[in-house]
Amino acid sequence: MWKSIAAAPADSILGLTEAFKTDTNPDKVNLGMGVYMNDAGITPVLACVKKAEQMLLGSETTKSYLPISGDPAYAACVQDLVFGPDSEVIATQRAATAHAPGGTGALRIGAELIKSFQTQASVWVSTPTWANHKGIFKAAGFTIKDYPYYNQMTHGLHFEDMLETLRQVPAGDVVLLHACCHNPSGVDLYPEHWAQIGAIAKEVGWIPFLDFAYQGFGTGVEEDRGAVEAFAAVQIDFFVASSYSKNFGLYNERTGAITVVSPSEQESVVAMSHLKATVRVCYSNPPAHGGLVTKTILSDPELTTSWRTELAEMCNRIVTMRNAFVDGLAARGVDQDFSFIKDQRGMFSFSGLQDDAVAWLQKNKSIYIVGGGRINLAGLTSKNIDYVCDSIAEALRN
Ligand code: LMR
Repeated sequence: MWKSIAAAPADSILGLTEAFKTDTNPDKVNLGMGVYMNDAGITPVLACVKKAEQMLLGSETTKSYLPISGDPAYAACVQDLVFGPDSEVIATQRAATAHAPGGTGALRIGAELIKSFQTQASVWVSTPTWANHKGIFKAAGFTIKDYPYYNQMTHGLHFEDMLETLRQVPAGDVVLLHACCHNPSGVDLYPEHWAQIGAIAKEVGWIPFLDFAYQGFGTGVEEDRGAVEAFAAVQIDFFVASSYSKNFGLYNERTGAITVVSPSEQESVVAMSHLKATVRVCYSNPPAHGGLVTKTILSDPELTTSWRTELAEMCNRIVTMRNAFVDGLAARGVDQDFSFIKDQRGMFSFSGLQDDAVAWLQKNKSIYIVGGGRINLAGLTSKNIDYVCDSIAEALRN
């Protein structure tokens, strides 16, 4: 079967980690894949997760299947987190949530679900966007189109151009938006922007699809809900893909959820029936462990408090490294102004490094950065920051 078939290219993000692992340089630094690392360069299991797992070990009585959409108590925790426990969406029961295997699983299930009814729909993605977005929607049968987002010159938003394009998106098409911590740019929309986008979505009739992979990594768990609140306020259909990889550190447990919001409870019941039908033919029902851990933490006030503390610690360390990185480059007298990186939010610095510098750093310094210049700031530590800044300064001089 494979004789005449060329190998697929390595994944632009996860493929870097594969290359990093085989690199024998003792100074190597992985600034590619978006996982949190502490100052020792380790991706830790959060203490609240460890505690929840200890509790579960004693209380778990079965490994029988979960329902197709997962444990309803987990779905309720997801909705509290996404909308806030006092949200009108929850009170009126117009959201249907299914436990999905990670943010990618949530995006794919949402894409498959939409495509089965909106057969001609295209998906509109920001320029740039997370490397996997296009592949996920393409695999579900969508044509991919782009809307302007990041302005390379100002390192800010192309907001007016973005709005102009969104006004032209045909009704029934899907617009994929990053709810917070835009990946890769780190440049976010704020409530006043979201309100305008919500009004356009309602007027034109396209379907917003929010990728909410970094809740809590922007300004805070509550503050990061701006996008969700704007679309909830205009009473339209929209989708939210949640991931608990980053904010709970549950990367390899593939813990996420897809939430379908409808204008009424009646429509939501229909949406849930089709959501379940979509899940059933993809993976039948979700893996339990990550959802159990998340539910256990969010149902226990003490564990919730320790989760919030640990989340804040992760965010603070990233901000510290963000500042150290910018100051480190400035101290080395690089001509380029990198101060804009201090205003970016989330795990990444969209550094402005060109692909030739990125390739040079990998080849000569064993520093792994995603093409396009996205740096995972959590990969910087007090031990490697000088090496990284020295190397980037050298790359820019070459
Ligand atoms: C990233 O953007 O690096 C992470 O979300 C990991 C991934 O799956 O690409």
